[in-house]
Amino acid sequence: MTDFDLVIRGGTVAGASEVRVCDIGITGGRIAALGAGLSGATTLDARGKLVLPGGIDSHCHVEQLSSMGVMCADDFYSASVSAAFGGTTTIIPFCAQHRGDSLAVVLADYHDKARTKAVVDYGFHLIIANPDAATLDTDLPAAIASGIRSFKIFMTYERMRLHDEQILDVMAAARRDGALLMVHAENHGMISWLAGRLLKQGNAAPRYHAICHTRGSEAEAIQRIVALAELMDCPILIVHVSTAEGIEAIRTARARGLQVLGETCPQYLFLTAKDIDRGLEGAMFCCSPPPRDAAGQEACWQGLKDGALQVYSSDHAPYRFDATGKLPKGAQTTFKEMANGVPGLELRLPLLFSEGYLKGRLTLREFIDLGSTRHAQTYGIYPQKGVIAIGADADLAIWDPEKRVHISAAMLHDNAGYTPYAGRELTGWPVTVLSRGEVIVHEGKLNAARGRGRFLARAMSDASRPAGKQVPEMAQLAEWNTPLQL
Ligand code: URP
Ligand code: ZN
Ligand code: ZN
Repeated sequence: MTDFDLVIRGGTVAGASEVRVCDIGITGGRIAALGAGLSGATTLDARGKLVLPGGIDSHCHVEQLSSMGVMCADDFYSASVSAAFGGTTTIIPFCAQHRGDSLAVVLADYHDKARTKAVVDYGFHLIIANPDAATLDTDLPAAIASGIRSFKIFMTYERMRLHDEQILDVMAAARRDGALLMVHAENHGMISWLAGRLLKQGNAAPRYHAICHTRGSEAEAIQRIVALAELMDCPILIVHVSTAEGIEAIRTARARGLQVLGETCPQYLFLTAKDIDRGLEGAMFCCSPPPRDAAGQEACWQGLKDGALQVYSSDHAPYRFDATGKLPKGAQTTFKEMANGVPGLELRLPLLFSEGYLKGRLTLREFIDLGSTRHAQTYGIYPQKGVIAIGADADLAIWDPEKRVHISAAMLHDNAGYTPYAGRELTGWPVTVLSRGEVIVHEGKLNAARGRGRFLARAMSDASRPAGKQVPEMAQLAEWNTPLQL
């Protein structure tokens, strides 16, 4: 007589409040028991291994047209397989509206693409680039009601950016309907003015990308979006923060009681602008914002450690190093024409495990929080995801903390065809990965049917609750009993 469908035997299990050696009993895809001597129809030996919540990557671009209209190299199958091999069992990519698009049509399209291909569970964020009346008054409330409780806006990129009034419109909608606003914060004018001058002078190599996206452009945009968010009392999360100045702006806002969260990514911890300074090949390291310098890396580690940065995501934006992605005009491609973004879905967690946890920069709990739990909490899927606890989905990554891995593009499962981290030696690897109790990756082999991943309708999270702080002018309106209609 067995009690559970599956028992994971004798691993060092990171539960919600303690790390201890125990068995995990799984039934119906959920965690049913944590204890000793459990018996299951099937048993998986995890002795000597760490059993952690599956990772959640809340910032990745999958089967999406970029800000410049380039289709990324991964579809929902290749991206979700790549995620699974890297220990990530939930992804939240973007459903991207471009100017002129109907949000409802775009969203239906993303659902169709993901439903038949994803091998892990997924949610969606929206990208709002066309905040017209149909989007704000009809499609956005409907999308939020269907469990898509976060959306991203851009302050830069010619074809995506919103001006301040549009941003306030989107903030009003987010606040009204209970969604979290994610912001790509870079000052567009500074970047495009510098780029224009540099190109005119014939400076077109990838390395000039890192010059144009100045540190100050990030800090200015964060300060401006914070001011707009303060006016609206609208919670925001600044994505892919890369600089000490940007992180400081977030800290300052939070110290003033504002609901401002931040995210950073592997490229800001493990790459620098020097990686871009290698001729045309530098295009493989170009993303926005760009990797910075050692001081910037240190600031990001510190931000992750002290909570100024809430989550660590990949910003996986895979484009091949050829005419379909990075080099639309071959060797003549200028830095303004390259697709922006780097791949990182599969290596996000192994990099942080090896260089963050094993090297003592982060505790095991911090590693789990930054790679999984806080994503679930921030985006409204906790405690279904992001925790090892009774009743939670059995989304688990079993890590061999001693496995040494030499990184190469060939060992990865995305379609970018290269990795910015090639040649590195990492320690620790997620050797077995479970999604809702099914072993989908084991010892380098995939066992997951296309389309087994399920859409996650997300709840409103605490992160999207307004802080309740009014600027004096709004307080005055309230006093006059003439509140703004959102
Ligand atoms: O360069 C990047 N990060 N590309 C992806 C699009 C975005 O801004 O997130
Ligand atoms: Zn962005
Ligand atoms: Zn992104």
